[in-house]
Amino acid sequence: MKLDTELAKNIVDIFPGELRAHSYNVSYLSVRLAEYIGYNNERIQALAIGALLHDIGKTKIQEKLLNKPGRLTEEEFGIVKKHTVLGSELIKNFNGYQSILPIILYHHERWDGAGYERLNGNEIPEPAQIVTIADAFDAMTTSRPYQKTKTLFETLHELNKNKGLQFSPELVEQFETCIIKLIKRTSSNFHPITPFT
Ligand SMILES: [Fe+2]
Repeated sequence: MKLDTELAKNIVDIFPGELRAHSYNVSYLSVRLAEYIGYNNERIQALAIGALLHDIGKTKIQEKLLNKPGRLTEEEFGIVKKHTVLGSELIKNFNGYQSILPIILYHHERWDGAGYERLNGNEIPEPAQIVTIADAFDAMTTSRPYQKTKTLFETLHELNKNKGLQFSPELVEQFETCIIKLIKRTSSNFHPITPFT
């Protein structure tokens, strides 16, 4: 079944500003990586939509908590962690969107098995592994109330340092090559916001 891209964009367009920009960035980066590793159009479209909506569960969590400067308490972190399950519960009600549920539910898994649902390695659906890398890249290169923005070099270093721990080693290597190609192509504006160009 063909997923409704327009509906997903309409949903994201009513997200609060930071979440909206993050969602578009993660979708853009995920799609670039998927194209680079040879996904077909149907898989790319599902990934684009899943990545756009990966954090939809955050709309059920107080913005004050999501944007809190400094460290979250254990209890607060427990609430924020629920966004994957809250998101998948929301999306379950959308007819035809079932194929993106693994992205929403598993984008905080870690390659070493220490993520939210404790899947590890290739037990984690590959589209979710891709979104995890795009998500981390965007989080590190964007200004947040609780962290200093990292440079491109620092960000790629961080991704590499976490190969086999947080991220798929193979996908990090492919992502790095893909990002470098992308920067060469769009050297004047390297932080684009639409996944559908
Ligand atoms: Fe998330």
